[in-house]
Amino acid sequence: MTHPHAIAAKNLFKVFGRAPQTAVDKLRAGASRDQLDDAGTAAVIDASFDVRPGEIFVIMGLSGSGKSTIIRMLNGLHDVTAGTVEVQGDPLTGVSPSRLRTLRRERIAMVFQHFALLPHRTVAANVAYPLEIRGVSKAERLAKAEEILALVGLEGWGDKLPSALSGGMKQRVGIARALAADTDILLMDEAFSALDPLIRREMQEQLLELQRTLQKTIVFITHDLNEAMLLGDRIAVMRDGRIVQIGTPEDILTDPANDYVEQFVQDVDRARVLTAANVMERPRPRVDASAGPRTALRQMRDAYMSAVYVTDRDRKPLGIITDRDAVKLVRAGESSLLGRLQPIPHSVREDEVLMNLFVPAIESPLPLAVLDAEGRLTGVIPRVTLLAALGPGPTATEEITVLPQPVSSAEIDAVLADEAAASGIEGVR
Ligand SMILES: Nc1ncnc2c1ncn2[C@@H]1O[C@H](COP(=O)(O)OP(=O)(O)OP(=O)(O)O)[C@@H](O)[C@H]1O
Ligand SMILES: [Mg+2]
Repeated sequence: MTHPHAIAAKNLFKVFGRAPQTAVDKLRAGASRDQLDDAGTAAVIDASFDVRPGEIFVIMGLSGSGKSTIIRMLNGLHDVTAGTVEVQGDPLTGVSPSRLRTLRRERIAMVFQHFALLPHRTVAANVAYPLEIRGVSKAERLAKAEEILALVGLEGWGDKLPSALSGGMKQRVGIARALAADTDILLMDEAFSALDPLIRREMQEQLLELQRTLQKTIVFITHDLNEAMLLGDRIAVMRDGRIVQIGTPEDILTDPANDYVEQFVQDVDRARVLTAANVMERPRPRVDASAGPRTALRQMRDAYMSAVYVTDRDRKPLGIITDRDAVKLVRAGESSLLGRLQPIPHSVREDEVLMNLFVPAIESPLPLAVLDAEGRLTGVIPRVTLLAALGPGPTATEEITVLPQPVSSAEIDAVLADEAAASGIEGVR
């Protein structure tokens, strides 16, 4: 049965040095990290957080902020100075060494920054190592190792030595070894930091791909904000031993808890983080299919638009009607828009990241249509909004017209007035 928390960390402190408890008392009384004098180095101060099953929980912060110390308290590589850690509802702090070993073996695997492969063993034997510790037979564990190597894209490399592999491949072996342990929880401390940027990018994509099928709980440490934003379902930002904010990437970008976080996120690549849903506006140019061309014309005139989206009763988009076509329909005495609808060239899903919206936005004659999972029109994104969202500061909400010159409102008024007498079909305002 899954416990609501994969990991629950409460009021964790870690002080290295001569008098850790004294230091904790001082910190609890409000002392800062530099006021501890010779009592010790406070690496982690009063950190509390829960990691949910199946999420990627990123811990991010500058060098020395306490990230590695925290993650090592989550699997007992460091004991805590104060506070508690529970894993799937069971205590990890304060347990016997043998219990701790069992927890580590069965529930929490770790991937290290510098791979930590055994150099004289083959790739397959490295991957099979956790199974060996568990006493699984050689044939069985090597078969399993091959299977997992295929999963990380290293099929056929099992009998090579680690020295024959590139950095990216070595880290795949590190991940494969952690996966071989078959634990629900993976801890990854700067796992991709030693890789060059292109390989790193590839590994990030691969981790997300793996995660889609494996659904592990992952605690991932990085000092790279873009990496944190790409991978994290939630992110904890650390500063000087303390967690200063926990939130989704969007929360952290759009609502930074303090100046520190705000400064930190200034350089983030918003196009890869923010989604259509984060920046879309109400679908103002929209008419119901049951409305006629006159209503459509009036809406376009009022919104200074030369076309509108037409939706059915469930707000599913049927097409676009232009002002010219609506004028023709009115003149022809038509009551329905459906005969002159034009197809919607592009629509995007709410969870699409901004980076993927540029081409459709450029090719779209109207503010880009945003659809929810059921295909309903829930918003639109004018190009100016898309551009404004990439800069820091609040999202611009100003509307622009991206269409050719609309039919003039005088002309539309004339058309509507001409037909006013024959308006048995649609009421005039
Ligand atoms: N074993 C130790 N003994 C004494 N001090 C330590 C020890 N481990 C870490 N520290 C100190 O604790 C603080 C936090 O270190 P930690 O390694 O957790 O930071 P980090 O966020 O992982 O940094 P980095 O990004 O450089 O890996 C630092 O000031 C560090 O010097
Ligand atoms: Mg570290």
